[in-house]
Amino acid sequence: MNFDPVSEAKGIEKEIIAWRRDFHMHPELKYEEERTSKVVEEHLREWGYSTKRVGTGIIADIGGGKKTIALRADMDALPIQEENEVPYKSKIPGKMHACGHDAHTAMLLGAAKIIAAHREELNGRVRLIFQPAEEGGNGAVKMIEGGALEGVDAIFGFHVWMDLPSGVIGIRDGPFLAGAGIFGGKIIGKGGHGASPHETVDPIPIAAEAILAFQTIVSRNIPPIETGVVSVTSVHAGTAFNVIPEEVEFKGTFRFFKPEIGELIQRRMRELLGGITKAHGAGYELNIEELTPPTINSKEMADFARKVAEKYNLKYGEVQPTMGAEDFAFYLRKVPGAFLALGIRNEERGIVYPHHHPRFNVDEDVLYLGTAMEVALAFEFLRG
Ligand code: NI
Repeated sequence: MNFDPVSEAKGIEKEIIAWRRDFHMHPELKYEEERTSKVVEEHLREWGYSTKRVGTGIIADIGGGKKTIALRADMDALPIQEENEVPYKSKIPGKMHACGHDAHTAMLLGAAKIIAAHREELNGRVRLIFQPAEEGGNGAVKMIEGGALEGVDAIFGFHVWMDLPSGVIGIRDGPFLAGAGIFGGKIIGKGGHGASPHETVDPIPIAAEAILAFQTIVSRNIPPIETGVVSVTSVHAGTAFNVIPEEVEFKGTFRFFKPEIGELIQRRMRELLGGITKAHGAGYELNIEELTPPTINSKEMADFARKVAEKYNLKYGEVQPTMGAEDFAFYLRKVPGAFLALGIRNEERGIVYPHHHPRFNVDEDVLYLGTAMEVALAFEFLRG
């Protein structure tokens, strides 16, 4: 590479920030990213990328050769009312880029522009994946079905990160974000008069017993050095003070870093609920759905990212794992790669609110560093 990606990214910093603000003002929820994807696609075409649509997602290629590196950004916003008073505040009531996907899209657009300007120096192909619906929509799965990973040798993606100081790139080996699943079900008893419990099968104490028993999955079944979460987050039954209801409905979420722990949680939920309802003569329904696998970075690719950061004097460090989930996991199940974090926490500027908070914001002054790293990863990977 005959240019410095950091100074080139710095050179288009204003443009990157302008794109981010434009996306921020026009947030779109999962699978509705019509405007955002149109803006992205127009730029990519103008810069010479061949583009393919997958719904509101875009797969864009440039260059050719034996090796292909993919870079991914997500484009969707959240159903949150923004409470920041900034000139680029969301113009859409009840919708907000409160997770920084506006920044991800803008950073990758910046990288797209720089890569296109230096396409003659490319020793392979760069594929950009602008995906819809990361927030609970598993847009990554749709992109993979649409061919996003065909011929891809490695993939990288960025998430802006409130738990890291501004400008620091967080790189982690192995599990970074958790696997996530949801469950829902009901305990089916036999209703009756509140004064005649002996004539009923009261599902309420059975539900209480089951919910407490679920607490033992993490504390008594998962090995102490492993991690997991089982949270019952919704319980509904009955409407009157003198009627024993027929059913109790419940739902919740579970999280894990290792697939075998995810399986253990699901097995124990079934065993506990089956056993407890049987003991009381009640029935049950239980639906468990694994939504997102854990996001597991390849050690080799994480090391490669460290080497690239080192070479271009980009500040990097360790990033702590979180029990949040990220559908980048689906790409990493198919090809080696790493999901990276870009620190955006800036206490002086009041940029401290967590992801998905109505006052979440991004330290825009470091976005060019994400762009620089993406460009550097692409050229360095294809060189090797
Ligand atoms: Ni996010």
